[in-house]
Amino acid sequence: MNTKRELIFIERDAFYEYKRLKKNEGYTIESVGYYLFNISDDTIFKEFDYTTQIVDISGLASGYKEVQLIDEQVIGKFHDYETIFIADKRHEEILRYELRYCFEDFKNDDFTIAKLERKEHIVTKHKKITDLDENELATFIQDFRKRLYGHEKFKDDFTKLVKNFRVFNKLGEHKILSLFLMGESGVGKTEVARTLYECFGGQKKLAKVNFGNYSSEFSLSSLIGSARGYIGSDDGEIFIRVRDTDIGVILIDEFEKSNITLFNYFLDVLENGKIVSSLADEIDLNGFIIVFTSNISKENFTNKISPELRSRFDYKGLFTLLYNKDKRKFVEFRVKSIINKFNIEFENKLDENLYKYFISEINVAKYNNMRDLNKKIKRVFVEYVSRSHDVDNENKNTFSFLKKLVKSIK
Ligand SMILES: Nc1ncnc2c1ncn2[C@@H]1O[C@H](COP(=O)(O)OP(=O)(O)O)[C@@H](O)[C@H]1O
Ligand SMILES: [Mg+2]
Repeated sequence: MNTKRELIFIERDAFYEYKRLKKNEGYTIESVGYYLFNISDDTIFKEFDYTTQIVDISGLASGYKEVQLIDEQVIGKFHDYETIFIADKRHEEILRYELRYCFEDFKNDDFTIAKLERKEHIVTKHKKITDLDENELATFIQDFRKRLYGHEKFKDDFTKLVKNFRVFNKLGEHKILSLFLMGESGVGKTEVARTLYECFGGQKKLAKVNFGNYSSEFSLSSLIGSARGYIGSDDGEIFIRVRDTDIGVILIDEFEKSNITLFNYFLDVLENGKIVSSLADEIDLNGFIIVFTSNISKENFTNKISPELRSRFDYKGLFTLLYNKDKRKFVEFRVKSIINKFNIEFENKLDENLYKYFISEINVAKYNNMRDLNKKIKRVFVEYVSRSHDVDNENKNTFSFLKKLVKSIK
């Protein structure tokens, strides 16, 4: 049992491991801000349970000049000596000094100690286009071309672009490969980033930020964090996404929906090859591909986006509608994948050649948005299954049948 009050410092990089461990032990981590704000409400301190709650006091580091006495008071209000207090290691100096009378001991947590010993620095390793050897690159490009239907000109350009990028990146002349893709809905703009991720063999999640959610004045702080707060939570979405992915590809969707502040932020990112948080944390994006997508028209592109930023993009492309032959490829691929999933779920197996029937049933010329085409495929499939004699020994109205069916067409 603790008889002296101690403060534990944690490095940002170690925090994720620390949090996971504590969560398994049944703890939640609370920011001190809430207690500071409600300092005169004794009930919240009485309700505080040191066996399941940890207090993160990083937030105190930023408010010193104004509220020192309150900071000391708030710590004192946690009566139990076993209460665990933690703080961001970057505030160590200020907190050690200012809270020298509140805590009898200051130390680092075990993960932080391990990191410091290994002198390990920031972020998981991302697999990047610049890491591939020539053979791997050839396979990568081939795979990419096969998985993204149509847009042949784009795929040619992209191939050249990547080859150039790898050379100049090696020379230290070109840090990030940026693509700006415009065009109508459902023709595969976002799919470019998803496909890149898959071709790299990503095992986690594509780093995706949707700027549709970023039109307000607070957008920059949601994206890159705000200066106050606590260790993990003031990170900013882009940092979380990049940290959580294993591949050096970032998707910025619906780019035009954001505002000038974010445009300028990205101008910096492309210029300097790194993202910098509000707390001056950095993640190096050297070798990354960033795909920006937008429904903007060509005219609005020049009106809305500054010439500096426009000239920063390595590729600006307008995605046109897909040709019917590409849409048929899409139908074939979707149907085969649905049939595979169906055959896993159900006893009665469907023949893969069924895709020919679908192509004959669906007039692809009527669809320009692949999302709509996909819906049509699902509809035709469900109709087929409900009529079909191949599947007639299942009771087609039972809940379990429908559940399995829905799973197949997902
Ligand atoms: N060119 C394409 N190649 C492969 N799949 C595509 C293509 N275009 C669209 N799709 C499919 O349609 C869906 C919608 O495409 P998406 O890339 O999200 O459209 P948008 O252009 O609006 O970003 C994707 O999930 C994908 O399955
Ligand atoms: Mg999209």
